[in-house]
Amino acid sequence: MSDLLLMILVGVVVVVASPAVVCSQQQWQQQRVLPGSSLQASAPSLIWSSINATFSLGFVPANPPTDPASFVASIAYSGGILVWSVGNGILVDSQGSLQFHSTGDLLLVNGSGTILWKSGTSGLGVAFATLEESGSLVLWNSSSNAVWSSFDNPNDILLPGQGFKAGDVLRSGLYSFRMLLNGNLMLRWNETVVYWDQGVNSSVDVNPWGNVVKGYNPRFVNLSATLQSPTLELQAVGILAISDPVLSSPVIMAYSSDFAEGTDVLRFLKLGNDGNMKIYSSERGSGTAIPRWAAVQDQCQVFGYCGSLGICFHSKLGQQDNPSCECPSGNFEPISTQDARKGCKRKVELKNCPGNSTMLELNHTRFSDYKREPLAKNELRVSESARSSCILDCLKSNICVASASADDGTRTCYTQSSDFFSGYRVSSLPGTLYIKVCGQGLPNPVSSSKNMSENADFLGLDHGFLVVVTVPSVVGFIIFQIGFFLWYRWNSPVIGRSLDRYKLLEYVSSVPVQFTYKELVISTKGFKDRVGAGESGAVYRGVLSSRDIVAVKRLYESNLGEMDFRKKVSTICSTHHLNLVRMIGYCCQKTERLLVYEFAKNGSLDSLLFQTEDRNSLTCLSWEKRFNIALGSAKGIAYLHEECRECIVHLNIKPENILLDENYHAKVSDFGLAELMDPRGHHRQELSSIQQTSSYISPERLANLPTTSKADIYSFGMVLLEILSGRRSYEVSIDTGGLKFSTWVREQFEKGSFLSIIDRRLAKGDVDMEQVQRAIITALWCIRNQPSQRPTMRRVVQMLEGHLEVELPPPLDSVHELSYPISPNSKSTFIHGA
Ligand SMILES: *[C@@H]1O[C@H](CO)[C@@H](O)[C@H](O)[C@H]1NC(C)=O
Ligand SMILES: *[C@@H]1O[C@H](CO)[C@@H](O)[C@H](O)[C@H]1NC(C)=O
Ligand SMILES: *[C@@H]1O[C@H](CO)[C@@H](O)[C@H](O)[C@H]1NC(C)=O
Ligand SMILES: *[C@@H]1O[C@H](CO)[C@@H](O)[C@H](O)[C@H]1NC(C)=O
Ligand SMILES: *[C@@H]1O[C@H](CO)[C@@H](O)[C@H](O)[C@H]1NC(C)=O
Ligand SMILES: *[C@@H]1O[C@H](CO)[C@@H](O)[C@H](O)[C@H]1NC(C)=O
Ligand SMILES: *[C@@H]1O[C@H](CO)[C@@H](O)[C@H](O)[C@H]1NC(C)=O
Ligand SMILES: *[C@@H]1O[C@H](CO)[C@@H](O)[C@H](O)[C@H]1NC(C)=O
Ligand SMILES: *[C@@H]1O[C@H](CO)[C@@H](O)[C@H](O)[C@H]1NC(C)=O
Repeated sequence: MSDLLLMILVGVVVVVASPAVVCSQQQWQQQRVLPGSSLQASAPSLIWSSINATFSLGFVPANPPTDPASFVASIAYSGGILVWSVGNGILVDSQGSLQFHSTGDLLLVNGSGTILWKSGTSGLGVAFATLEESGSLVLWNSSSNAVWSSFDNPNDILLPGQGFKAGDVLRSGLYSFRMLLNGNLMLRWNETVVYWDQGVNSSVDVNPWGNVVKGYNPRFVNLSATLQSPTLELQAVGILAISDPVLSSPVIMAYSSDFAEGTDVLRFLKLGNDGNMKIYSSERGSGTAIPRWAAVQDQCQVFGYCGSLGICFHSKLGQQDNPSCECPSGNFEPISTQDARKGCKRKVELKNCPGNSTMLELNHTRFSDYKREPLAKNELRVSESARSSCILDCLKSNICVASASADDGTRTCYTQSSDFFSGYRVSSLPGTLYIKVCGQGLPNPVSSSKNMSENADFLGLDHGFLVVVTVPSVVGFIIFQIGFFLWYRWNSPVIGRSLDRYKLLEYVSSVPVQFTYKELVISTKGFKDRVGAGESGAVYRGVLSSRDIVAVKRLYESNLGEMDFRKKVSTICSTHHLNLVRMIGYCCQKTERLLVYEFAKNGSLDSLLFQTEDRNSLTCLSWEKRFNIALGSAKGIAYLHEECRECIVHLNIKPENILLDENYHAKVSDFGLAELMDPRGHHRQELSSIQQTSSYISPERLANLPTTSKADIYSFGMVLLEILSGRRSYEVSIDTGGLKFSTWVREQFEKGSFLSIIDRRLAKGDVDMEQVQRAIITALWCIRNQPSQRPTMRRVVQMLEGHLEVELPPPLDSVHELSYPISPNSKSTFIHGA
């Protein structure tokens, strides 16, 4: 971000290049630059410009500034955004120059005369140079063939028209971006750690994201065929796509959120020094660039962002792109007091305290480089041990330096033996990180002194609302806000203490009750009784003064402003269906966003479905209950999609979000939250969640492609398989021959062996085989890769009920395609629309 500021500064420099200078002496330089010309760091107003002055090449002051001043020879876009620099940012002193030598070489020379960089084009017959309107600096020979170009020597930015081939690389510090020959795009840290990987050939089970097959069109490409020479290109309208001779049309990898908007806008792809790759757009002459798409949604997931042993966390709610870093505890100290991103070091090295180490416990924290394929690397060993052995195993091991237990019901333990690792803390994350330290674990001096205590924050604040309001400096805005507040109080039927209000309203009205933060703190006894946690927030049991039991969900990140939040809440509140969890009210005070729901007595489906062996098998859900739960959830989702006033795409369907009331009726929860979490409808919280959740996410969503309600159908199909089998769909075991459960089901079904699919705990006589068969076929249709092949939820209900005869879908392998209309702006588009 900070380099953007400098880019603005540079804009000033370009403006300083007054017409007088350009017209008299440098007019010829507007087109062809001849050998013998040079640019001086001491005369920054002297520039080489492209024909319509869209781009210019000249010296700009170093960023950050140095003492004595130093300069970089850079290409800037109109307005001053730097897009390329000679030698990827080599600094020269104030006597430095860029010389176009008569031999044809372009040289960057320091004041002392040292050649710091050269294009290596001497003797190739270079006759002249141009700066193209595309932003490329090109050296030509006399028959006008390009001998060298800046486009072929990228730094950290890719401009429209600049082809990026396998073998090319964008670099920024330790981070690099490459495309593999198979069309996969990868972000790496220090060449070794891959923390982002997406591509044309993100094929089944090979890809860590799960079942992602993107852009494959079997009519033209054959999965076993290879790409010949894939080229990644950012189209000027803001579409990032891969083309190849074997592909009939380019495969779209990403859309910039302002794609095809504006007329005089430059879009570019940049690998930042924060390790994230983003598409920016800059309006001509504005000097500012706005990020429009990011490869890694959650900045904390960029490997090494907080350096070695650093802990990454989001200090401000809803700011996933600007996290903070700190050291794990008092056993560590920052490497640099100026820059927390440099990481931390141990005060006492582990080798200096043999046999006297303990495991430091960091709640709500996990490794930032959680691998999505835990078995792939030996540094990340998975054992089925419980929490305590996750600690003990690491403590006893000589090579283990840290471990993490997932605490999400999977009892997964990750261990780490490398010196370089970092953590990611999210207040509602169900997971604990243990770091081996010498002696006793000490509290974190920084965290505790900052009074990070979440609950204490509000208790003394009666005027929380006014505090929010007075922050903006525009007085009119304040008056408007107060006016709105008063108006709201007058016109809202919910005046007075909300506890009574709730009693009054009962379940008749769809007007959400507004609770104060204090009321919810009291009803949940200070958020003591935590009953669950998801990506969007933790859920606590609470009792209202009316004695009604409620579930209070405390969102931990919401980007929505107050008014938008209220609007969305009223949408959610207005959806009533037997199979949807009823929202009663909400609280929106300062940065706190809480939602109050009816309480489902039997908890969530996952706790009943995936029981651990030691539980009594009598509590196993009967087939009848399971089938009704499946049907009920389908009806609830169908209502969300098609019948309610404002249709809602759920985007987070999984057993954890299907609750069961006292009669085991399914109640879908958490709907509408995807939107609440981010006004632009992105799915940040989703992709930032733990590995397993990705198995419910449809391929097109994982691929950042336009998403419709069909994404929910995919997730529901996975849940349906889990209801049938009592196993997680991502589970890989010996039973399933090393295949992912969802893949294996299909094989078994084709062989006619239903019995191997259904839960072994179910008594054979109680199972209605006809229902089982219908449910399996329905599930297999739901989990098609191609969204258009999945049925609608209404059809799913009909299929389950047996009102619609369906055949087994064709084998998966023949349909590896995901094709999208070029415009994602159709009405049903959810993710990238608007
Ligand atoms: C430069 O601007 C002129 C007039 O606006 C336009 O006709 C021409 O196509 C532009 N040249 C390039 C290379 O974009
Ligand atoms: C360029 O010259 C200056 C002063 O002569 C010197 O301090 C600096 O280190 C030189 N830069 C490089 C990259 O050699
Ligand atoms: C210019 O370069 C092209 C391609 O490299 C080459 O074929 C041609 O002979 C060169 N022309 C001159 C005059 O060197
Ligand atoms: C896709 O990946 C598979 C397995 O890694 C490989 O065999 C195949 O050649 C790849 N196809 C393309 C088009 O790169
Ligand atoms: C990066 O990798 C190199 C070689 O593998 C290694 O020597 C170096 O220590 C690594 N850098 C960091 C910061 O770990
Ligand atoms: C797919 O490609 C492989 C290897 O190039 C070839 O053997 C096979 O016949 C092709 N299949 C189809 C359906 O074209
Ligand atoms: C972490 O959580 C456990 C269980 O909730 C609690 O006993 C422990 O005190 C917590 N540790 C820290 C450092 O907050
Ligand atoms: C272990 O470390 C603690 C605290 O640093 C120290 O008091 C104790 O003497 C050490 N014990 C051994 C056996 O080194
Ligand atoms: C932190 O909070 C405690 C009471 O909760 C208070 O006594 C202390 O002064 C606070 N510290 C800071 C640095 O604000």
